Amino acid sequence: MASMSIKAVKGVKDILPGKVESWRAVENCASEIFSRFGFKEIVLPIFEKSEVFIKGVGEQTDIVQKEMYTFTDQGGESLTLRPEGTASCVRSYIEHSMHHPSGTVTRLYYFGPMFRRERPQAGRFRQFFQIGAELFGTISPDADADVIQLLHLFVQAANVKGPELLLNSLGCSNQDCRPAYKKALVDFLTSRKADLCDLCGERYEKNPLRVLDCKTEKCQLIAKNAPMIDAHRCGGCDDHFGKVQELLKELDIPFTLNPRMVRGLDYYTRTVFEVTAEGLGAQNSIAGGGRYDDLVKNSGGPDIPAIGFAVGMERLMESVAGAETDDSHKPDVYMVSMGEAAARAAFAIAGKLRGKGIKVERSYNQLGMKNQMGKAGKSGAHLAVIIGEDELAKKAAVIKNLSTGDQKEHPMDGIESAISDLIK
Ligand code: HAM
Repeated sequence: MASMSIKAVKGVKDILPGKVESWRAVENCASEIFSRFGFKEIVLPIFEKSEVFIKGVGEQTDIVQKEMYTFTDQGGESLTLRPEGTASCVRSYIEHSMHHPSGTVTRLYYFGPMFRRERPQAGRFRQFFQIGAELFGTISPDADADVIQLLHLFVQAANVKGPELLLNSLGCSNQDCRPAYKKALVDFLTSRKADLCDLCGERYEKNPLRVLDCKTEKCQLIAKNAPMIDAHRCGGCDDHFGKVQELLKELDIPFTLNPRMVRGLDYYTRTVFEVTAEGLGAQNSIAGGGRYDDLVKNSGGPDIPAIGFAVGMERLMESVAGAETDDSHKPDVYMVSMGEAAARAAFAIAGKLRGKGIKVERSYNQLGMKNQMGKAGKSGAHLAVIIGEDELAKKAAVIKNLSTGDQKEHPMDGIESAISDLIK
């Protein structure tokens, strides 16, 4: 019986050659912009002890409640494939005492896959890649503006279609700030409990803010009249948010205030932001981030404030107008040969050229001359090196410039140097 071929896991995609080059170009662009702001790359593990995310992302979040890939390993330890990078980065920051000496500002960025068992749809995957940045060690609103400018410059450099920066402040953990607001919101929602969607009906007491960005019509209607954080923020948070807005204006970065934007992770305090792009449908958020001034302390570290963001690579690439494919995989030379003896000679020349750093392509199977020349043309190579029976008899090869059509016979002796001179 013929066996069925095995496909990739649902919601998990291969990134094929042709696309990979554009991805790398975007990553390189990000690295360049990150380094302008003093960020250094960190490579974090793909899995962590489950508590890193349970504590970090928040027990009541959708991610922790139903989306984590958690397993018990052979030693009986509960491990989780990272659903995001911030909690890992915080774990590493604390573990390696990066706050020493005191007053140090630490700026880190990372690339890599994240895993969430969400319902797959356009722009929503179970394995997706993020580029993330985290800045630790200051409550200054300048840091908020710096991090947002970094994201703004990156989004511009990547050529994202119709980007919009959405901004909000979620207040802080002082009793008269977010806790008081949450209480007012729960009171408001309790009186409308029967009209909430099933999910919000279950979660509104523990996580009332999520009702504000629930996508169901029922909840959106209720959210319209709900108390907003603006009227409940403490003076310190209001000042901070005002300064962030002033600084963004000074940097000429346009933004839209959205008091209903709450973000799906529990660690945020004060400034939160998202960047949306055109033409992506329902999953139009290409990046999200914000301050998380209590997370380091709540994860067992010192009392160090922080701010960061992550860009979703799949959505970013989808929103990039006419993503250029990089040419760097085009060979410099295409070897064409007829017959076994000529193929041996071509093999030897190809080996020497590659040793000199020249990109060489050749067909392994014995195709006809015309067919091989067709492949040489399509490959985008600069030169074809042709060895037929005649050339072989003369211990020579023809070097053909594939753009101009000019060609010249050259003795095999010293041909590698002649070719490398033509490539330079
Ligand atoms: P997040 O909003 O959950 O934030 O994710 C950031 C970005 O990752 C989203 O805007 C989206 O582009 C992409 N993304 C998220 N889930 C998926 C998915 N299932 N499929 C495809 N793309 C997805 C965070 O992860 C925070 N750690 C960001 C942060 C860093 N906040 C502070 N520092």
